[in-house]
Amino acid sequence: MSSVLIHSLKGLVLGHPRRVSGKNMADLPQLGEGAFLLIEDGLIRKTGLQNERPERADLIIDGSDRFALPGWVDSHTHLVFAGSREAEFVDRINGLSYQEIASRGGGILNSAARLAEMSEEALLRDARIRLNEVIRSGTGAIEIKSGYGLSTESELKILRVIRQLKAESPIPIRATFLGAHSVPATYKANREGYIRLIEEEMLPAIAAEGLAEYMDVFCEKVAFSVAETQRLIEAGYKAGLKPKIHVNQFYSMGGIPMACSCNAISVDHLEVISNEDIEALQHSNTIATLLPSAPFFLNDPYPNARALLDAGLAVALATDYNPGSTPSGRMGFVLSLACLKMKMLPAEAINAATINGAAALEWEDELGSIHPGKRANILLTEKIPSLDYLPYRFGSDQLSEVLVGGKLFPLSQKG
Ligand code: NIG
Ligand code: FE
Repeated sequence: MSSVLIHSLKGLVLGHPRRVSGKNMADLPQLGEGAFLLIEDGLIRKTGLQNERPERADLIIDGSDRFALPGWVDSHTHLVFAGSREAEFVDRINGLSYQEIASRGGGILNSAARLAEMSEEALLRDARIRLNEVIRSGTGAIEIKSGYGLSTESELKILRVIRQLKAESPIPIRATFLGAHSVPATYKANREGYIRLIEEEMLPAIAAEGLAEYMDVFCEKVAFSVAETQRLIEAGYKAGLKPKIHVNQFYSMGGIPMACSCNAISVDHLEVISNEDIEALQHSNTIATLLPSAPFFLNDPYPNARALLDAGLAVALATDYNPGSTPSGRMGFVLSLACLKMKMLPAEAINAATINGAAALEWEDELGSIHPGKRANILLTEKIPSLDYLPYRFGSDQLSEVLVGGKLFPLSQKG
């Protein structure tokens, strides 16, 4: 048995055992000055105050002036991709819009063309570097989507890279199939043909190899209609994949009510939202996942987090790490944006980035808060004056240690 004791903490963020919603998101259960945390065999064993503190452990860490928190759960990323898109970044500075770039064959199609040229080994090498980088910045569990393949061969290539990352990474990973990210150029005049390719070729192959847990569709004017999205969600269910949907990034078209009626695990983006969308969410168990670094990077309006919270909904925060709209996987920066640009309180943002992210990956029982039996994926801050200091000091992770499965993850490691 191996054990770790972190003692004399300034604060220990326990968090909620399960998802939180609405006004309860402002409540963040903590133990104060002198708290300790005992980890055994990679799991949280015991928490308490100074007077109940165990004496022995294999590794003892002095937590004076520091806070311990659950690791971030990043429930929405596209971390497996080829190359980068800084030329489009400059095009946007020069006045082109993200949607104009996409309709000219740039954007997702640009990334798909590059990915087709790249070997599985090279993709894995780059993705592994990104994954290690985000673990060092505090991500303790992650979802990774395909979606830059847009052919059976390339979609499977991405999903196999994710399978390899799952096998070798110390943090847990969920895989999502996003073949319906865009209609590829070869099917431009034959959308029906591409949808049938997903239904008849991609999904059966993915199900046969057990390559994904979730099905995603980009439901948007530049991508798939609400009716097409619903059809694809149903096809996903038949292949054993539950829906998590990109929706309402640019337009509110009815995708949220449809996704809720299909019991989507989450609806993600929500930069644009209507009263009907909010009502549909209120009558569902679907998590509203916000990705504020995408509108930051695209200069778009931010999601109305306060309206969602006032409506009593469960909000999660994730990075959306991808080469087009968010070339960053830093959850710490997402928290700062949530506070600064969406008026979420630090406590709300921390709940959204931990337990509600876990709920958006159906991992509430294992991750997202510090309760006995959950995985010991833990963050230990630098010496900081208060928890609010974390999102306040934007751009700096303020972490002195990252523990994954109760083991210290090397913060200086490259690659
Ligand atoms: O979530 N909106 C759709 N997909 C990604 C970005 C895709 C890209 O531009 O490469 C997103 O923002
Ligand atoms: Fe995304």
